[in-house]
Amino acid sequence: MCGIVGYIGTKQAYPILMKGLQRLEYRGYDSAGVAMISNELNVYKCKGKVADLHAFIADKDISGTIGIGHTRWATHGVPNDVNAHPHYSASKNMVMIHNGIIENYGPLKQELIKRGHQFLSDTDTEVLIHLIEDIQQKENVRLGEAVRIALNQVVGAYAIVVLSKDNPNELIAAKKGSPMVIGIGEDEFFIASDATPIVEYTKNVVYLEDEEIAFIERGKELKLKTIKNKAKTPYIQELELKLEALEKGGYDHFMLKEIYEQPRSIKDSMRGRLSSEKGIVNLGGITEYEQKFLNAKRIIVIACGTSWHAGLVAEYLFEDLARIPVEVEYASEFRYRNPIVYEDDVVIAISQSGETADTLAAIELAKSKGATIIGICNVVGSSIARATHAGSYTHAGPEIGVASTKAFTAQVTVLTLMALRIAFRKGSISASRFHELLSELEAIPEKIERVLKTNDQIKFIADIYKNSSNALYLGRGYSFPVALEGALKLKEISYIHAEGYPAAEMKHGPIALIDEEMPVFVIATKGTSYEKVVSNIQEVKARKGKIIAIVTEGDTQVKEMADYTIEIPETDEILVPLVSVVPLQLLSYHIAVMRGCNVDQPRNLAKSVTVE
Ligand code: G6P
Repeated sequence: MCGIVGYIGTKQAYPILMKGLQRLEYRGYDSAGVAMISNELNVYKCKGKVADLHAFIADKDISGTIGIGHTRWATHGVPNDVNAHPHYSASKNMVMIHNGIIENYGPLKQELIKRGHQFLSDTDTEVLIHLIEDIQQKENVRLGEAVRIALNQVVGAYAIVVLSKDNPNELIAAKKGSPMVIGIGEDEFFIASDATPIVEYTKNVVYLEDEEIAFIERGKELKLKTIKNKAKTPYIQELELKLEALEKGGYDHFMLKEIYEQPRSIKDSMRGRLSSEKGIVNLGGITEYEQKFLNAKRIIVIACGTSWHAGLVAEYLFEDLARIPVEVEYASEFRYRNPIVYEDDVVIAISQSGETADTLAAIELAKSKGATIIGICNVVGSSIARATHAGSYTHAGPEIGVASTKAFTAQVTVLTLMALRIAFRKGSISASRFHELLSELEAIPEKIERVLKTNDQIKFIADIYKNSSNALYLGRGYSFPVALEGALKLKEISYIHAEGYPAAEMKHGPIALIDEEMPVFVIATKGTSYEKVVSNIQEVKARKGKIIAIVTEGDTQVKEMADYTIEIPETDEILVPLVSVVPLQLLSYHIAVMRGCNVDQPRNLAKSVTVE
């Protein structure tokens, strides 16, 4: 969480910083701030979004070719002007931006207070910049060295950039557990939490490793060192990111654009990996580790949020097709409960951003116990992608809307390919079923195109239920994770309380909530549980609940019972989640827009959760 940017070069820093902050706003939007040096060190910060900061700065001095900027998701201290970054050192000659949490900030702060330091904010960040300045003055060392010494005293996660009035030609950056990328241009450098603020200026980037410090000096080569004082050679990579992928492209919101991108993003997830004609599924990234899958007695999936829902689909897929037992774990629970992990376990870590702190920590734990870790990430070069033994990228392209849509379907696509590949290698699936599933999977993008054409009808239904206070989502089998995901989409962007439940479990609790006000969204597509779901629908109807059902094209039985139905094209039961989730995404989107909610940046949330 929190987005950080920095610039040093020949251009004016402010426009670059502000544009960068807008790109990073998905990481948090409680408050924002910038600092530039011209003659003076000018710091401007305020509560609110980047646009509020821009308005606040309107008549101020924004000159300078060196600067830093921050957009915050509050951890320590409420979102207000004072807690906004950048934070000052004691002398106010230095400022720092920070993403992460300094866990031992309490004792460090007490120590500094004893020595006469006074703090303006409640943040851990302010403690660290005070410490850095304190060290610089006491030890009489250069700024970078003071940062290095200070970081050796820090427990926690950080991506920081330090700017000092006394060093107007240098930025010092460092990271541990929070991401940081440095873009190398001609006579200029860009620093950011991810590559999105950098891509339009340069394609050459260096991803900082944990505990590395970057010494970024005007007109000089980039220098790296570890906090243990070991020099490192920067590894320059070429960015593949395209600028168009970061724009709304005519859609009102990123979320809508990303929903509509799914036919393409799913094709991209399958590209070069699947040929139904040749009967091939191949995931190059995991070839070396296939034997581990074949020997595995168990698969453990670790993930958070929507990625965890994709993990639940994987449980059905791997057990059904590859006959390997699967446990799906919330990363945040797994990491703290002394889990039993065997050396022959395969752990699949799923993460859109590749930066989720809990998932990363769960990976490290499973790794330390000798398990094989396979990553499924969207962001190339992300921390999780690098922490895993092997993996497959989802190739969905940048997802900017905070509510995940195309990343979910891309994750499920890759997990389906993986389960099919392992099932094929294990011989746990017949040749005819294998071929049938390959053809069905290839046809999914076109089926989603057809679902997208029902948008007007979905909007009509959204209008009817937009003022509900509660909603229930029901599904069974492969549709149970979709019910969870549908409920999550609604609550996170429209703030309507929603619960996803296995349809048969409804009678053990949620049924008590049902009355004529309560919309119940049911995934009632054709498949093994169809008749059972029909019975569950009857139970809702008997209590006057409103039924909105996702049904297979041509369905008649559910249509007769439901208040509204949305038809989706028929596909194999195991692939239904890829199609049935789409109308639920659109429904939440329209309800949120109709309720006047900020769809792309819902309150209190952030896209990338890099703190516990
Ligand atoms: C946040 C996002 C969700 C996402 C979850 C896990 O809560 O708002 O959309 O599903 O983090 O993120 P990851 O990047 O690991 O998939």
